[in-house]
Amino acid sequence: MKRVYLYKKFERFWHWSQAALIIFLALTGFEVHGSFNIFGFEKAVLFHRIASYMLLTLIVLAIFWHFTTGEWKQYIPTLNKLKEQIQYYTKGIFLNEKHPTKKTELSKLNPLQRLTYLGFKLFLVPLMVITGIIYLFYKTIDKNDIVIASSFELKTIAVMHTIGAFLLIAFLIVHVYMTTTGHTPTTNIQAMVTGYEDLETDEEESDKKETV
Ligand code: HEM
Repeated sequence: MKRVYLYKKFERFWHWSQAALIIFLALTGFEVHGSFNIFGFEKAVLFHRIASYMLLTLIVLAIFWHFTTGEWKQYIPTLNKLKEQIQYYTKGIFLNEKHPTKKTELSKLNPLQRLTYLGFKLFLVPLMVITGIIYLFYKTIDKNDIVIASSFELKTIAVMHTIGAFLLIAFLIVHVYMTTTGHTPTTNIQAMVTGYEDLETDEEESDKKETV
């Protein structure tokens, strides 16, 4: 086993602050929706708006980071070992079988994670951001007296935003479960806190050669 620095400082900051903001947005968003009462409606609206601006800023920074560091390549989808990975999560894991893929610095994500996270980045986040922004500026009049986003029904936007919120919560639940399927239940979580993870060296070297 070799201790490898997998997750850089910004990556960990982005990961945990995104998680915290999404949980807070879900809490305040569902209060706006009328599901429960914690802060009171007006405060929930205000907090939801503030948190959404923070998330939008974080998303812009994360996009910049992914492209300037080349980390976006980690999310290029592949069918290689995808079937084995699905079989592992649905069967092998319960029979104590070995992980079908190895984690390396250049290939941190298994084929199923690549697909899921790509869907998260290209579908789920844009859905929340686009519907959220239309919701924010719905029938706002700008300085040229132009009404912004009036051609959509507000109800349609709210329903799409709420469906996205349910999908995000489902993602979060599955994601948290999946993080416990490393060498030990806390290995992956510890790695996202410290940045370091113990990886098997031999296979790591051969995997590196494969991905180069
Ligand atoms: C950049 C991201 C987001 C923006 C710009 C945004 C914006 C908004 C706005 C403007 C509203 C209407 C309340 C208000 O006027 O403040 C709203 C409602 C809501 N938001 Fe968000 N939001 C974002 C992310 C999220 C996330 C991540 C979740 C949940 C995980 C969420 C869940 C909800 C829910 C459930 C509602 C209530 C919908 C309804 O029934 O009308 N939002 N959002």
